Amino acid sequence: MQKPTMRVLVFSASLRRESLNTKLAGLVARRAEERGATVDHAAMRDFDCASYDGDAEATAGIPAGAQELQRRLGASDAFVIVSPEYNAAMPGVLKNVIDWTSRFRPQPFDTRHGLLLSASPSLAGGNRGLWSLRIPLEHLGARIYPDMFSLAAAHKAFAGDHLADAALQARLEKTVDAFLELAEAAKHYPCAKRAWVEFLGQPPSNAGDRVDPPA
Ligand code: FNR
Repeated sequence: MQKPTMRVLVFSASLRRESLNTKLAGLVARRAEERGATVDHAAMRDFDCASYDGDAEATAGIPAGAQELQRRLGASDAFVIVSPEYNAAMPGVLKNVIDWTSRFRPQPFDTRHGLLLSASPSLAGGNRGLWSLRIPLEHLGARIYPDMFSLAAAHKAFAGDHLADAALQARLEKTVDAFLELAEAAKHYPCAKRAWVEFLGQPPSNAGDRVDPPA
């Protein structure tokens, strides 16, 4: 019997047409497809939401952009976010849609595997933004891959459909491959799942659950 393929949601958190992060997301998606994954190519615009407002939630419910992210996370085994760094943190639009999406029950990020990347013209490649992005995602129970990939001097880094620096391109591919292997192992082998939970120091008990049980 043939192994089912991994389904991976990939999106860049930039709204900009000429976005460097969207370019990097394209390379990640292509690599994942080369490795046999089925990629859902998403755009930040697909998840557009007004600023989180508890009153709006109470009267109108969760907006369409967050519903779309919930639906596409639910249809995937893993997700990849390629995010710009704004003032040493993640973009507000990204935090906003994470906040809205966290209001669904069951909570869609819980136990889902995620990989984070960034691109910036700066020498740090936007890496500080990814550390800020890890916080809400890990809080929500997502299994964020320990390695992150930050592309420095990104305005000069691309050469057609790959990175100009062969060593960097190889590192990008290795990061994507290793992430897919871990997410795939967790999908197919319950023992790998258990090991991950133990690694987080969070035994699977009702008391430790961050997700409300279904009504
Ligand atoms: C930035 N940029 C930026 N870059 C960085 O490395 N560290 C930072 O803290 C910031 N801060 C920041 C704030 C704001 C409001 C803007 C608009 C930009 C520069 C940013 O990395 C650059 O514009 C990228 O090209 C944005 O990503 P996209 O749109 O190319 O994907």
